[in-house]
Amino acid sequence: MGKEDIIKKGDLYFPGEELKKGAQLKDEAIYQKAAKDPVKFWEELAQDLKWSKKWEKGFSHDPPYFEWFKGGKINITQNALDENLKERANKPALIWIPEPIEEQARVLSYQELLREVNKFSNVLKKLGVKKGDRVGIYLPMVPEAIIAMLSCARIGAVHSVVFSAFSPAALKIRLQDTGAKILITADGYYRRGKIMNLKENADEGVKETEVEKVIVVKRAGNEIPWQEGRDLWWHELVKDESDQCQPEIMDSEDLLFLLATSGSTGHPKQIMHTCGGYAVQAKFTGKWIFDWHENDIFWCTADIGWITGHTYGVYSPLLNGITTLIFEGAPDWPEPDRWCQIVDKHQVTVFYTAPTAIRMFEKYGEDFLKKHKLDSLRILGSVGEIFDEAAWYWYFEKVGKRRCPIVDTWWQTESGGILISSLPGMGPFKPSFIGLPFPGVKIDILDNKGKSLGPDQQGNLVILPPFAPGFLRGVYKNSKKYLETYWKQYGKEIYFTSDAAYRDKAGLVRIVGRVDDVIKVAGHRITIGELESAIALHEDIIGCAVVGKPDEIKGEVPIAFVVSKKTEKPVEQLKKEVVEQVKKEIGPIVLPQEVYLVEDLPKTRSGKIMRRILKKLFTGEPLGDLSTLANPQSVEKIKKIVCG
Ligand code: PRX
Repeated sequence: MGKEDIIKKGDLYFPGEELKKGAQLKDEAIYQKAAKDPVKFWEELAQDLKWSKKWEKGFSHDPPYFEWFKGGKINITQNALDENLKERANKPALIWIPEPIEEQARVLSYQELLREVNKFSNVLKKLGVKKGDRVGIYLPMVPEAIIAMLSCARIGAVHSVVFSAFSPAALKIRLQDTGAKILITADGYYRRGKIMNLKENADEGVKETEVEKVIVVKRAGNEIPWQEGRDLWWHELVKDESDQCQPEIMDSEDLLFLLATSGSTGHPKQIMHTCGGYAVQAKFTGKWIFDWHENDIFWCTADIGWITGHTYGVYSPLLNGITTLIFEGAPDWPEPDRWCQIVDKHQVTVFYTAPTAIRMFEKYGEDFLKKHKLDSLRILGSVGEIFDEAAWYWYFEKVGKRRCPIVDTWWQTESGGILISSLPGMGPFKPSFIGLPFPGVKIDILDNKGKSLGPDQQGNLVILPPFAPGFLRGVYKNSKKYLETYWKQYGKEIYFTSDAAYRDKAGLVRIVGRVDDVIKVAGHRITIGELESAIALHEDIIGCAVVGKPDEIKGEVPIAFVVSKKTEKPVEQLKKEVVEQVKKEIGPIVLPQEVYLVEDLPKTRSGKIMRRILKKLFTGEPLGDLSTLANPQSVEKIKKIVCG
């Protein structure tokens, strides 16, 4: 590509002529067209998929519930696999990169992937799994993770993936909540050169659940405990299975999957996603935002345990017939240039990651980048957390060499697919701004009373009807949570995102952060309540408060303040045990960076812990008026401990 790939105008960047010419979308008229009649707009897109029966109604709304493509019949795997056989049977659907350098990549063509999915679908059926049954998946980034998800979708079972770094306790809650009778896991996987024994965790996690069978993928060959009768090897089950399996014809509104996201208490919420609408949104957001063309090799670095891995690691690329790449290992192991090696070797064209990873690489300096060409890259994407200007420029200049548009994509587990992002063929790209809502998505920014705010005024980001087809349809078995979390603030017709944001004069959205008690640690979403509930389970702890402290790389890190019973334990040991407690209840992904043992926590007279004051100890803001506290002296003491 030429020099004018990206053109700078003031503080905005636009695609140059060449980029524009080849882009999937280049005419801004699409925004007006979609805004005029969003339902019709999505219906037109839906026609691009294969339906066994066309829907009767595009959008039906019975606030706060709604449906898309009601009466339509579809199977997402028929669209993601069978439909691609006509022209792409031998094209790579999936490239899997194992962590050990000496191990070969595994490539599955569309035909091979479909065969594997069919075989495993037949296995599930023989084990008695039926349409609507929930199946737990606790797998690392291996091809079987994708095969397992697609097999569930093939037979109409509901997959419920649990991130493999979650602890046994976290797995247990998720299995209990979904009532899964089958769990699919692995013996182990590689992480930074070590083998992690996943099966041990799985065994612990299935206790006190309804799980009857555990299917085990042999990945690392490590020694594992085995329970005869319950445990079954994946490779033995699929060995003699037929590679033919007719897809179950699903109603558009049948459940496709459940995915847990953090809840305000220790208990996660199981977000419900359905078949038809999700498929439509997944297909077109991917196609247009990542500007996919036939030969694109797309790498989404998110684990399949998160919504990003579901939608853009699996469904969206396959629905578009392109090649998706997944990687088992840690980003900077054995060397910081591991990701660059993969990009060059497999000629990745579109790369999608999170700001935490970018900031981490930025710290390594530039030398590791210089060994690699990175010239296959066309488009760079970001997701999951605020993308600060410094990291944006580093990504744009050092990775994309000022050639690649950057699409910062805003969305949530609840939205199923991207809702706000600039489009590569149009722009504008503005550092630290997300861009415009995707065509057909209506947003607003409201003050606390519901008044719509003008340019540069900060308020709450909301999504207006008809939302988007891939939106959540509820919280599994908990309609109260659904109502309270999303439809209480502004009534049953306005979806409250819990994000604060503002728009510039051109309407580009900038995210400011969460307004609830969610913190984003390295892009992982966790609530204060979950961390506090985990810590409170420690026998010596009688009070605790967690706050998010700004962090240069991870965005935010949790800091715990704990009050303990009288104990003989040395302070340092107790602190370590608190960290261990979080590891045990949640996993190693969001450990408190610091634990402070304090005498008392600042409380109001009604007993509410004032976390806001604790947080200010780290942000440098003035502490403000403490006279309303029941115990103002506690703050001075804590300040001494924290600030010395
Ligand atoms: O606060 C927003 C932040 O992540 C939240 C959703 O988290 P989760 O459900 O884990 O989904 C993450 C991946 C889709 C949002 O409420 N967030 C997501 N994308 C961005 C973001 N914050 C700033 N910029 C983004 N691009």
